[in-house]
Amino acid sequence: MVLSSGNGVITQINDAPVRNEQVQPDVEGRLKPVHIGNVRLQHGVVLAPMAGVCNLAFRLLCREQGASLVCSEFVSAKALRHGSKKTRQMLRVSPAESPVSIQIFGSTEEDVAYAARLVEEAGADIVDFNMGCPVPKVLKAEAGAALMRTPDRAQRLLKAMVDAVSIPVTVKMRAGWDDESINVVDLARRFEDVGVQAVAVHGRTRAQMRQGRVDHGIIAAVKEAVSIPVFGNGDVFGPEDAERMLQNTGVDGVMIGRGALGNPWIFARIVHYLRTGEILPHPTLGERVAMARRHLHLLAELKGEPVAAKEMRQHAPYYLKGFPGAAQLRHRLVRCDTVAEYEAVFDELLGTLDPDMIPEPSRDK
Ligand SMILES: Cc1cc2nc3c(=O)[nH]c(=O)nc-3n(C[C@H](O)[C@H](O)[C@H](O)COP(=O)(O)O)c2cc1C
Repeated sequence: MVLSSGNGVITQINDAPVRNEQVQPDVEGRLKPVHIGNVRLQHGVVLAPMAGVCNLAFRLLCREQGASLVCSEFVSAKALRHGSKKTRQMLRVSPAESPVSIQIFGSTEEDVAYAARLVEEAGADIVDFNMGCPVPKVLKAEAGAALMRTPDRAQRLLKAMVDAVSIPVTVKMRAGWDDESINVVDLARRFEDVGVQAVAVHGRTRAQMRQGRVDHGIIAAVKEAVSIPVFGNGDVFGPEDAERMLQNTGVDGVMIGRGALGNPWIFARIVHYLRTGEILPHPTLGERVAMARRHLHLLAELKGEPVAAKEMRQHAPYYLKGFPGAAQLRHRLVRCDTVAEYEAVFDELLGTLDPDMIPEPSRDK
């Protein structure tokens, strides 16, 4: 059962213990605790910020499955400063997901300092700054990845955030703007100098978007250059990818985005593999449907049924990828308007297929 406290904040999910708390450091030291300022992570396997995905409901599921830190979707500092109620709601965090980081984006010192203070007041453990977003609207506002082209300004923004709050400030960025301007090493050093407590590096340039290969070399160079924790990000879709990222770069942790879509188990599977060398089986159809149901119900509790049903349209197909008839199912799932309609599709699925069957997600490596 999902429990809510009086003020509607989700404090517990399904009475399940957060698995993360039970993880012991492994003998080879691949799951060492990571300290981001005064915030101690049990290990370095963390959830990446993803707009439209990483709300409280999804973050809770990822924490439960062993992510040692979860991050929000990006939140506009300018909208917060202008008093947007809808944007303010994106700052909602629950004690059950701690440690949690809220990511903001912005382009003026006043906006980002103000937003960072609100993030701290909201109860987040960490405030993260977005310097990787390649979306034209964000770039036009001279925020996101655009800031990689103006290092002095970026450094001033980070300093303003660090000065504004007592929680740790972290940054997520790309390798550089394009192949001609790979400057993430210089930026990481500058940010460490003004008090930033950790950096995450997506090993691609803004020009690459999400195409081409992730450059482990540039991530390794950042790790060499600074003494704050560094997280490597990009194309980690399973335990062996995580191991490769750690081995090739020496980073303190791996940050996982798309690999977690419809797949919160990725954290448990990576943590287990790094600790024991054993690859756990993928979840069964029955487990996937149960997780999709919980995701739906948590979303409904968080946002109300109509919004939850709409948002679940993008998540449900991920949960059910790789099963026979998944394509037709997707067709039906993206038309569901109510929780009951989803439940009917899920019931039918479990009635026609063996709940113990296990598909092999093609990307998981
Ligand atoms: C749907 C989606 C939304 C994203 N939103 C954000 C965001 O709000 N902030 C951010 O820093 N990165 C965002 N990203 C980028 C991811 O955090 C990550 O850097 C990128 O997907 C590469 O990692 P991956 O290969 O593990 O997915 C987003 C990515 C996806 C797929």
